[in-house]
Parts: sequence; structure tokens; C-alpha cells
Amino acid sequence: MKSDYIWINGELVSYKDANVHILSPTLHYGLGVFEGIRCYDTVKGPAIFRLKDHVKRLIDSVHILGILDFPYTHAELCGAIHETIRANRFSSCYIRPLVYMADGPLGLNLDTSQTAVSIATWEWGTFLGEEALDKGAKAIVSSFTRLHPNVTMTKAKITGNYVNSVLAKTIAVRSGFDEAIMLDTEGYVAECTGENLFLVRNGKIYTPPRAAILEGITRDSVIKLAKDLGFEVIEEQITRDQLYMADEVFVCGTAAEVVALREIDYRSIGLGNMGPVTKKLQQSFFETAQGTGPRSDEWLEHVSYAEASIGI
Ligand SMILES: Cc1ncc(COP(=O)(O)O)c(C=O)c1O
Repeated sequence: MKSDYIWINGELVSYKDANVHILSPTLHYGLGVFEGIRCYDTVKGPAIFRLKDHVKRLIDSVHILGILDFPYTHAELCGAIHETIRANRFSSCYIRPLVYMADGPLGLNLDTSQTAVSIATWEWGTFLGEEALDKGAKAIVSSFTRLHPNVTMTKAKITGNYVNSVLAKTIAVRSGFDEAIMLDTEGYVAECTGENLFLVRNGKIYTPPRAAILEGITRDSVIKLAKDLGFEVIEEQITRDQLYMADEVFVCGTAAEVVALREIDYRSIGLGNMGPVTKKLQQSFFETAQGTGPRSDEWLEHVSYAEASIGI
């Protein structure tokens, strides 16, 4: 996860100097929001996948959490992300912007803290492993319920929300699975700990509606790519046994990309490997992200090393 520089409040600081104070309320209460973005190595050089949409969601998360007087604009944050990648000279990387509370006083009131922003980048390979990308991953339905939409705000990437994901993921991995599937408060399939979920049945693609999930940018990309390929995509409630009966199940997210689930709750899904529809969508996703797909120009923003530092 190392890089030469991390951007903090308008300055590029060295990795070892990118620290927060122990009394930061973000550390104590999970008061922060973040994004996860990928920059891909393409034939035309490094390119950031759907940067504007990710930064829009970051600003939406700030707004949903209720941070007032956020000091950066969308354009400034996009510029800062380009600047950070350029400073570290990555050809591909993961990008982690974080809005956090720099300093005390400690308290549960957002308005008493100083809002700060950092942007870290690092080289990050496959999230669920190379084998999972090729053959599919193993998942278990978690005993932890996904966040209720009025207990916390499920559309925002609030740092504290991720304790729910950590609880589910840790027990899944300790039990020998790659990922946990989380059910919503009514018992319908919601999403995984860091990915959205799709199933394929009789050639049609189904995915849970947006009510209780994070509105994933990869989810939106997959829906558009699937429609481009002529598939029907239906957003409707999905039950646990519909997962078991599916011909294919796959998950997607910025970190995980597009990965089949070959086994859920000790039941093999379809033929127990990556099915043909998932394969097509995975291929289409990587072609797009790596610059050779029909939507590459629409969704990729190239990082130019020729430009001078943008500075904000
Ligand atoms: C809970 C959750 N669901 C879904 C996703 C997938 O979202 P995206 O495709 O925008 O990365 C993520 C990752 O950000 C996530 O944390």
C-alpha cells in the first residue's frame, strides 16, 4: 500500500508524514467518508475509471453525512486525484480519497471538527485473488444483517458503516470463504461486504433494487454493458434460495471488479465455475477499463504526465 506521496489538504506529503492526530473524531466515531477508484494501465497510458462519478458520490457522501461548508469543489478534487497519481508515477493504481475530521475536540457533533481531505494511491492487484477472477469465489450468507437504511445512510460511503462489513467479512474468511453475502432487514439479498451482487437465470440478469444497498458505480457499469450486449437486466428483490437456484451468480465492485460466485453456503452455483454470461460481462468490463471497449472513451479519463502540477 506504499506510495511516495499522499495528498493532504492541497499538499503532497511523503508517505511517512501522512498522519492524523490521535484525537481525530474519525478514529473514535467513524465520522468520515471515502471513495475507492481504480486507475487502469491502457494502451494510451494510465486512465481513471469513471472518475467524475466517483467524485460526485464522494461529494454526495459528504452531503448525506451532513458536513457543512466542505471546502473543495468537484473539479478541485478531480484535479487533486490526477496530481497524486502523477506524483507517484503509477501506470495503474487504486485511489482512496478520504474526508476526515483532522482534529478534536472529541464529540459527536460534526460541526465542532475541522474537515480534512486526503488522497492515497497504491498498486493493488485483484481483491478476491487471481484464482477467484478466473474460476469464481466461495461465499456464505452472513448471520449479520445489512445496514437498515434509517439506522445509517446506505447511499454514503461513511467510514463507520464499514464495521458491519468487517464483522461479516472476517467471520466469512475465518470460516474458509472468500466473501459474505448480506441480507437486508427483511431477509432479501442486499449485497456483499464491498460488492454488489447479480444473478443469471434462464438468460436474464437480476440484481437487488437500490433501496438498501450502496449504488455501486461498477453495478451501474455492468448494467449498461449487459444492456449493450443485449441482455435484459431486472432490478427486483432476490431471496436466498433464488441464489441457490441461479445458473450464475456474480459480484462486482471497484476493488473486486467482476467475479463469479461458484459456491454459496456449500452449494455449487450452476456448473460450479464462472458461467458464460459472467465471463462475457467480465471481459466487456476489462476491455472497457483497459481502453479497448466501446464505452472506454466515455468512462476513462487519461492521466497526463506531460501536464504541470495542477495544484489547488
Ligand atoms: C458495500 C459496498 N457495496 C458495493 C460496492 C461497489 O461499489 P463500486 O462499484 O462503486 O465500487 C462497494 C464498494 O465501494 C461497497 O463498499
